[in-house]
Order: sequence, then structure tokens, then C-alpha cells
Amino acid sequence: MTKPPVLLTRRIPSAAFARLESGCDVDLHDGPAPLTPDELKRRVAGKQGLICLLTDRIDGSVVDAGLPTLKIVANIAVGYDNIDAPAVKSRGVVVTNTPDVLTEATAELTWALILALARRVAEGDRLIRRGGWTGWALDFMLGTELRGKQLGVIGRGRIGRAVAAKAAAFGMTPVFAKHDMSLDELFVSSDVISIHTPATAETRHLIDRRTLARMKRSALLVNTARGSIVDEDALVWALKERLIAGAALDVFEKEPTVHPGLMTLENVVLSPHLGSATRETRTAMADLAVRNVLEVLAGNPPLTPV
Ligand code: DGY
Repeated sequence: MTKPPVLLTRRIPSAAFARLESGCDVDLHDGPAPLTPDELKRRVAGKQGLICLLTDRIDGSVVDAGLPTLKIVANIAVGYDNIDAPAVKSRGVVVTNTPDVLTEATAELTWALILALARRVAEGDRLIRRGGWTGWALDFMLGTELRGKQLGVIGRGRIGRAVAAKAAAFGMTPVFAKHDMSLDELFVSSDVISIHTPATAETRHLIDRRTLARMKRSALLVNTARGSIVDEDALVWALKERLIAGAALDVFEKEPTVHPGLMTLENVVLSPHLGSATRETRTAMADLAVRNVLEVLAGNPPLTPV
């Protein structure tokens, strides 16, 4: 029996790849850069499944290139702002993402950033490497203690709840926007503000000049969700004006380009979109995408539809 043809836009961990190959005829793009839009359209033609990453933009025109055969677009990410989901679904094609499997990894990275920012870990590392450390002193590189402080969590989905669940270990009180208090109250009263909401038209630039100006001057802002939620021009302005004390960012408005203003500030921790980047989690994400494809191509409902 011939296997259904599937386009895979990047190499995935070997166990997941083997599972995919056992049920499908795989066309793998193994290059160092994402497929160009034209190449993507050319290679999706005649395929029944498309497994893609957040670096691939999937809109109606890509799906049209895959019709009438294409049945599923499986994103290897929980966020799917790279996909025009209404356009894909309106063409009768299923869209899936990878929730749950990356919750803990992303929550752990969030805490790594909170701690690095509050205790100036990255800044201290840079200081030592440039030979700037002259010795221990009582008032040297003082940070902020987390115990007794309020953690404002924007977004009460799986990741937001997993981040909040770890707050007690550091003696922090978690509060959720819209659940425990209004968003405005959260901005005004939180010591650490962590973003865990999807990128939508409504959340674009949720953090802007106005909301940054509402925050405490001692506030620390953390974003492991999506870059578009924070207006980076406004953030650079607020940091330079000392309207807030610091920021830690794992996601950026124009990845992989980072706002030049952020690069020069010591009170900023930058990480290159590492939220789900553990071996265990990336394997589980790829495997879930593969299982979604196998289910749908076997005529079954998807496991994690969008
Ligand atoms: C996701 O799954 O949305 C993450 O950002 C990928 O790391």
C-alpha cells in the first residue's frame, strides 16, 4: 500500500521521524534556513500532510497550493501565530498545535529568567568575562529578593498556571490578571510581571508606553510568550528612563533580530527563544505533531486541534 505523502519543513528528533516514516512518505526539507514561501508552495503540492515550525508562515495561499490533497497542517509549537488558522480551516484543512508537552519546560525557563534578572546573574557573568570583577564588597551588585513579592501573571492558560504554581517555592504571591485583579491593578501592584498570553490582534503591544508607565519603578518584566505582545521601542524607553527596573525576554518582535536598544542595557536579560528548548520537550513536541498527522491521515480526529 502506498503511504500518504507529507512535507516536513525541518529535521525532527529521530524517534519522531521514524514514527512518521513508518506511516508516511516523507519529503524532508533539511536545509539550514526555512523554506522560502515559493519553495514551500512548490513542495506542499500533492501532499496530504504538512508538518511545520513557527519559522514557517502558513496562509491561505500555501494551503491552496496543497489542495485538493492537503488534509492537515501540524505546527510543532503551542503558539500558532505563524498560521492563519481561520484561512486554513475555512479550506477544510485541520490545524493542530502541541499544547501540554512544553508547559513545564517553558515555566522552568520563565523562572530561570526571573531569577537571572532579580539576582543580576547575566550581568555578573558579563562583568567577570570582561575582567571587571575586582573582588567581594558588601554593596556590590545588589539584586532584589523575591520572597514576599507579588508575581503578576498575564494569561491563565497552562503555562501561566505552571509558572504561578512554582511561586510558593520562592515565597512569592502569584496573582492572575482578570481573575484575581484587573490588568491595570496587576500592572500597578506587581513586583514581577510575567506574560503568558497568546499573540493575537488584541494582545499586540499590550505592554506599551502607557502600561509601562503604570508599573512600579522596581518592577521586573518577563516575556516568554510572543514578541509582538511587548512594544520594544516603548520598553527601551521605559528602561532608559528607569520607569521599570529590568526586563528578561525570550521572544522578540522581529526574531531573530533584537532591538539594538535592548542590546546595550545591563538590566536586560536576553535568551534566544528557548522556552521549550529541552531535549525531552522538543522530542515530545515533534512526536505529538507526528501523531496528529498519522491520526488525521488515518481518518481519525486530531489529538490536539486548534
Ligand atoms: C511554542 O511552542 O509556541 C514555543 O514558543 C516554541 O518554543
